[in-house]
Amino acid sequence: MDLTVVDLSAYLESEEGGVEELCGEVSRSLRETGALLVKDPRCTAEDNDRFLDMMERYFDSPPEFKRLQERPQLHYQVGVTPEGVEVPRSLVDEEMQEKLKEMPKEFQPSIPKGADRKWRYMWRVGPRPSKTRFQELNAEPVVPEGFPEWKDTMDSWGYKMISAIEAVAEMAAIGFGLPKDAFTSLMNQGPHLLAPTGSDLRRYGQEGTVFAGYHYDLNFLTIHGRSRFPGLNIWLKNGQKVEVKVPVGCLLIQTGKQIEWLTAGDCIAGMHEVIVTNRTIDAIKLATEQSRLLWRVSSTLFAHIASDAVLKPLGHFAESPLASKYPPIYAGEFVEQELAMRFTSRKNMALPILMFVFVMAGLVDQGQGSTCASTFFSALVQLIPCRAAVIPFSPIPPSEICCGALKALGQPCLCVLVNGPPISGVDRSMAMQLPEKCGANFEPCTF
Ligand SMILES: [Fe+2]
Repeated sequence: MDLTVVDLSAYLESEEGGVEELCGEVSRSLRETGALLVKDPRCTAEDNDRFLDMMERYFDSPPEFKRLQERPQLHYQVGVTPEGVEVPRSLVDEEMQEKLKEMPKEFQPSIPKGADRKWRYMWRVGPRPSKTRFQELNAEPVVPEGFPEWKDTMDSWGYKMISAIEAVAEMAAIGFGLPKDAFTSLMNQGPHLLAPTGSDLRRYGQEGTVFAGYHYDLNFLTIHGRSRFPGLNIWLKNGQKVEVKVPVGCLLIQTGKQIEWLTAGDCIAGMHEVIVTNRTIDAIKLATEQSRLLWRVSSTLFAHIASDAVLKPLGHFAESPLASKYPPIYAGEFVEQELAMRFTSRKNMALPILMFVFVMAGLVDQGQGSTCASTFFSALVQLIPCRAAVIPFSPIPPSEICCGALKALGQPCLCVLVNGPPISGVDRSMAMQLPEKCGANFEPCTF
């Protein structure tokens, strides 16, 4: 079965209205398959390649080098998590194991024998609130030595993938019969996390090896750039198991537990696993012939509902007969509970715990001007060409492309960005000088 592919440009370029049918396709695919393939003109195959090339080179470095980026004292919430640390739910959750045995043989997932065979890198994306009930540890991001392009590559790919998620979230909201910003307003300043994984195919390239055991994601929506090595299986709402084929240039979106909550179970969290299949082996053979690095990198980004926002069935879903199964709860509390449930009251208490991996932050009023039509992230993506000109003490003048982007963005959106929470690597006063340096006749922002 091929998943629906939706071209987001039709939505992004549309004036008001005329997109209901497309939005209906988005919500239908998320509801029935827990997944959706999208094309976003802002997230190109070249962007994905740049990211995968860097991550392959990183994961291919010696383990001793990678362990310099390990922060176990910070519960791995930043930097690298070595392979063998993350444990799939299906390994520790006895209740889940019982349910799996009841599934028809052909749809049963592979049961892992131990921890997942994958390294992971945690990179937080986007601004966090200054005030929250769910304080995250204030850890500095970790940048490996010898990768000068690291921060730029991580941030720009992260911002781009979040803008794609935001478009999908708006379309899904419309498709579900909710206000367009029903989901995106709750995602503001959420603890979004770019968390690529790397699996060593030279060591673990045998058919049936489990890279990520059967599980669901606890966040809102997960997005992946296309992996160079296939292997993802998903389970449809009807219980059928399907191998996912992602066409070149497409991104894959999967539903997490938070969207299930907000829709009172109409759209359930998609179950999935990543294993070595015969298609993975074909890709390994081809990569070997082409002397490419043999690491399976997933460019995974977990988009979250803000921790201080309340998860509860939205709009007409509040009237659903299943709504009582989804009582109001702060998203941050929900994440804490999910993690606690995964790692306590299970048989193997001594397993290393990734307790704070998907750590939470919250929401403060953003104080946005009302005339900026872009979301925070899509405004930020538009200004990526200005990055060099706005880093603290930068002597670099804004380029022509930057000035063009700034003028296209407009004064209200620039003010949203400079009035918003701090953005790492961006000097607010440098950003405010952009209009003058670009000869744009913008009114100054009010604070
Ligand atoms: Fe997952």
